[in-house]
Amino acid sequence: DSKKRVFSGIQPTGILHLGNYLGAIESWVRLQDEYDSVLYSIVDLHSITVPQDPAVLRQSILDMTAVLLACGINPEKSILFQQSQVSEHTQLSWILSCMVRLPRLQHLHQWKAKTTKQKHDGTVGLLTYPVLQAADILLYKSTHVPVGEDQVQHMELVQDLAQGFNKKYGEFFPVPESILTSMKKVKSLRDPSAKMSKSDPDKLATVRITDSPEEIVQKFRKAVTDFTSEVTYDPAGRAGVSNIVAVHAAVTGLSVEEVVRRSVGMNTARYKLAVADAVIEKFAPIKREIEKLKLDKDHLEKVLQIGSAKAKELAYTVCQEVKKLVGF
Ligand code: ADP
Ligand code: NA
Repeated sequence: DSKKRVFSGIQPTGILHLGNYLGAIESWVRLQDEYDSVLYSIVDLHSITVPQDPAVLRQSILDMTAVLLACGINPEKSILFQQSQVSEHTQLSWILSCMVRLPRLQHLHQWKAKTTKQKHDGTVGLLTYPVLQAADILLYKSTHVPVGEDQVQHMELVQDLAQGFNKKYGEFFPVPESILTSMKKVKSLRDPSAKMSKSDPDKLATVRITDSPEEIVQKFRKAVTDFTSEVTYDPAGRAGVSNIVAVHAAVTGLSVEEVVRRSVGMNTARYKLAVADAVIEKFAPIKREIEKLKLDKDHLEKVLQIGSAKAKELAYTVCQEVKKLVGF
């Protein structure tokens, strides 16, 4: 359907981890074939809601480009672009920010969680980034947005902003729907009550796509389980083991029941090593491709330039129409 359009974004900062891969990028790759119009953005504007070193940020934008290409994002099938190169994102964000009341943003879970951790010292950008996210999506009149469970509340804001705009200025934006990825949250290997995250200070908690096989084995070896040696799937009662079973199912493409059935006779210590091996095997070809792509900086820059020019063309038209509706 030519009216359908997929949009999603990922911050360039931090190395892609197993949670991002299974929870987001794997489905991004699939959606390229399921929809005619697909945009994926490296959302560098979102990265500066927290302090960044300019040289590191610049490098991480290219590194993330290499990682996404290596994972199977194909610029022939989707528009892969750098958000900051399309200035319409911030223009639409401003217009939308004038349509949201402050308490609405202050009540979002993520703002509350992040500022509690940082003792209520978040920047204005950290508060208003969900509005920029709304602009990212609406700027392309996107209809479908693959997101993780952690983004559901922000998608409600996007939907409300689309409806609010339409009510005030006339039917213009499609109200975008979430595509919830089948993989539930991948949990921290050290604390299965928390999600696996780039920013986790415990280095053993997060499996990165660029980890060596030795690091992956060590992380699974140290993964928190419990005192039962049998492998079972019981997310409520045995969160640690169940997270590892879920990862195993996701990387092998087997059902949870099937991986549990095949683990009969293995204790959890041995099972963790089997899952580490499956993850190593899954990441090996991607890792090789990342190394290859990183050697050609010019190519990576070119991919982003071409993608950003394509995105800009779409964004420009929509933004001009929005400005006219607003009265500019
Ligand atoms: P992080 O929280 O590690 O910084 P991001 O916020 O950059 O990750 O998320 C990028 C994408 O990866 C989002 O679509 C998000 O829903 C997904 N994602 C992040 N962490 C996980 C996880 N632990 N399990 C599943 N999906 C995740
Ligand atoms: Na984030």
